[in-house]
Amino acid sequence: MGRKTLAIIKPDAVNDGYIGEIISMITKAGFKIKAMKMTYLTKAQAQKFYEVHKERPFYGELVDYMTSGPCVPIALEKDNAVADYRKLIGATDPAEAEEGTVRKLYARNKQFNAVHGSDSDENAEKEVAFFFSEQEILENYFD
Ligand code: CMP
Repeated sequence: MGRKTLAIIKPDAVNDGYIGEIISMITKAGFKIKAMKMTYLTKAQAQKFYEVHKERPFYGELVDYMTSGPCVPIALEKDNAVADYRKLIGATDPAEAEEGTVRKLYARNKQFNAVHGSDSDENAEKEVAFFFSEQEILENYFD
């Protein structure tokens, strides 16, 4: 299993003041932060990042949401990173998310759901590369 995943603290959670709480949950769960930034996606960047959802009825809304304010992409590392991080954040819809998960605690609803998580090792690699250059990923910083 891959060791990397891409997290994004989405604009709703940034706006609601939850950056610190969410990063704390991530690091307490054993993930190492390999790269992190705060950025404001352009419409073209959001459209490209969510290209897989292009045909979905909510694509336009999703792009508007992700460009509504700054977000915080974070490249994470851990054994079994993709699955473990998805467990930590909970179901897409916070109403269906387990108690104690990031989305249960901090998401507003199914659309404004606080965080992103890669859904496969292959996408994790692509998504990390979307936000971070090789130089920005601190591979050998931690033991
Ligand atoms: P995520 O699963 O990380 O990636 C796709 C995103 O689209 C999802 O989080 C939500 O932010 C958004 N989304 C999912 N379902 C809907 C919906 N029915 N209406 C609007 N946005 C949605």
